[in-house]
Amino acid sequence: MRTHYCAEVNESHIGQEVTVSGWVSSRRDHGGLIFIDLRDKDQVVQLVCDPADNVEAHKIAEDVRDQFVLIVTGKVRARGEGLENPKLKTGKIEIVVDNLIVENKSLPMPFDLGDDKVNEEIRLRHRYLELRTQKSYDIFKLRSKATIATRNVLDELGFLEVETPIITKSTPEGARDYLVPSRVHGGEFYALPQSPQLFKQLLMVGGFDRYFQIAKCFRDEDLRADRQPEFTQIDVEMSFCDQEDVLEVGEKLIHEVFKNCGFDIPTKFRRMQYIDAMEKYGSDKPDMRYDLAMVDVMDIFERCDNAIFSNIAKDSKKNRIKALKVPNGDNIFSKREMKRFEDYVRKFGAAGLGYFQMKEDGLKGPLTKFFTDEDIQAIIERCELKVGDAVFFGAGNKKLVWDYMGRFRIHLAEIMDIIPKDKFEFLWVMDFPMFEEEDGRVKAMHHPFTMPKTDENGKIVFDDIEDLESIAYDIVVNGTELGGGSIRIHKEEIQSEIFKLLGISEEESKEKFGFLLDAFKYGAPPHGGFALGLDRMIMLMTGASSIREVIAFPKTQKAQCLLTDAPSPVDGEQLNDLSIRVRKQLTE
Ligand code: AMO
Repeated sequence: MRTHYCAEVNESHIGQEVTVSGWVSSRRDHGGLIFIDLRDKDQVVQLVCDPADNVEAHKIAEDVRDQFVLIVTGKVRARGEGLENPKLKTGKIEIVVDNLIVENKSLPMPFDLGDDKVNEEIRLRHRYLELRTQKSYDIFKLRSKATIATRNVLDELGFLEVETPIITKSTPEGARDYLVPSRVHGGEFYALPQSPQLFKQLLMVGGFDRYFQIAKCFRDEDLRADRQPEFTQIDVEMSFCDQEDVLEVGEKLIHEVFKNCGFDIPTKFRRMQYIDAMEKYGSDKPDMRYDLAMVDVMDIFERCDNAIFSNIAKDSKKNRIKALKVPNGDNIFSKREMKRFEDYVRKFGAAGLGYFQMKEDGLKGPLTKFFTDEDIQAIIERCELKVGDAVFFGAGNKKLVWDYMGRFRIHLAEIMDIIPKDKFEFLWVMDFPMFEEEDGRVKAMHHPFTMPKTDENGKIVFDDIEDLESIAYDIVVNGTELGGGSIRIHKEEIQSEIFKLLGISEEESKEKFGFLLDAFKYGAPPHGGFALGLDRMIMLMTGASSIREVIAFPKTQKAQCLLTDAPSPVDGEQLNDLSIRVRKQLTE
């Protein structure tokens, strides 16, 4: 139905007859002449219908409307003097229509296809129309390049692509599972995998040595701009490796995939310990495109003449007092703005936000009166303050201060407009804590199969459970967690100790992960790996603000597919087959 794609027609075809097919992206009737922009997968070519050349084609063109499907044959000619369109690949030529077939009509578009501001609900209901835009095509072309590059690089590195089950048993990534009822075993359920974690470890026991998969994962969790209930991971696992080997594969993979997608990035990435990331940037995924690092001023505040601060400073295990210098901040921000920053951090639980201003005649601010001259000097030196700078500080519970100061850092960078665009700053965040305490319960920070750091005798030692580090790492890009992984436990003694520390009984561990633990009794090799969020990677490359833009058929923030109307009720017979009775009727 075509001799050429639209993009292929160029000046070398002038005088030749070509056939192109696609959709009408616009039509202009200039009295006698009708111009049609015809678009196929990725380019537009201009058609001209001239009644003087072909009355019949011109007559058909009169009834043509946007998004009609046309198959067109005509002669290529150069556009007239001054009528060239340098923005189009085909901007120097046009096709004089000789034969025009309307292969299919279209209803008027429910929204303007090129307009991003149209209500998302309408766009998602007609997602196939949005996919017809150049912007979408470019995104999915890049996504396809990225997955093909992934396969090529990992194949070259000796990794085997293996598919793991979709209807399976719960996996330990910490979100809620999507469940699938079994018909054959009434009252029992499969879970959709939150990741292929357990199966990829079993593949290592199976001796495959190096595995990868471009894997669909399912997590029933609160959705955000970079989270979908169904998403894709580039999942990797390898045997007889240490952390360095895994990071090397990660760097090579990411470098090559970005390169194939047209981005020049380093071959080695910076590294930072988790604890440093928290202490300096208040986040385990710091955006390294700008500085604004915090410094600790606990020791200085401990000596101040203000009981609130000196008391906070006394407990360095639980609390923090962090100072965040803003170069030139005193010149940039008015006092009112500085006060408004306090409102900002209060939203995240801060009791307040202190500040100092570095003036010509010394450090000023509501709290300077509580410090001795030496300690004022110590603050100036610790924060490396110059005249015109401002310094903000937060004091209180360690985790709270990290969190709101970290958010404040991002907020400042945004309002000061200091975040460079078109730049990728990759960072490995390493040595994550093994455990975190939430509501008085100990949880695995990564997952319970992550290898904790051990002493020279292979023993787990710690004073405070939250201080035990693990051999786990995340890859962070521009403040986004692109991926994460760890070296896994492959020895039974360590695994059972970790379960014990997590409060998982032997019975429970057997019930949940018995198959993995059994497999480990038959010679589990040392192994480790990682997974990258493919959707997030494409978001970074395309600058998309929502993950939905880079998924062909995404779900809404409420986990619905508006196109198919899923989820939807099912009839009673189907529920009966599945031994299910719906207790609560869904309300509209
Ligand atoms: P983790 O849970 O950190 O690790 O997931 C790895 C990466 O997957 C992406 N990701 C998501 N992307 C979109 N929507 C979501 N809801 C979502 N959840 C996660 C992120 C994240 O960094 N099995 C381990 C990996 C391993 O240890 O090998 C795992 O799944 O980019």
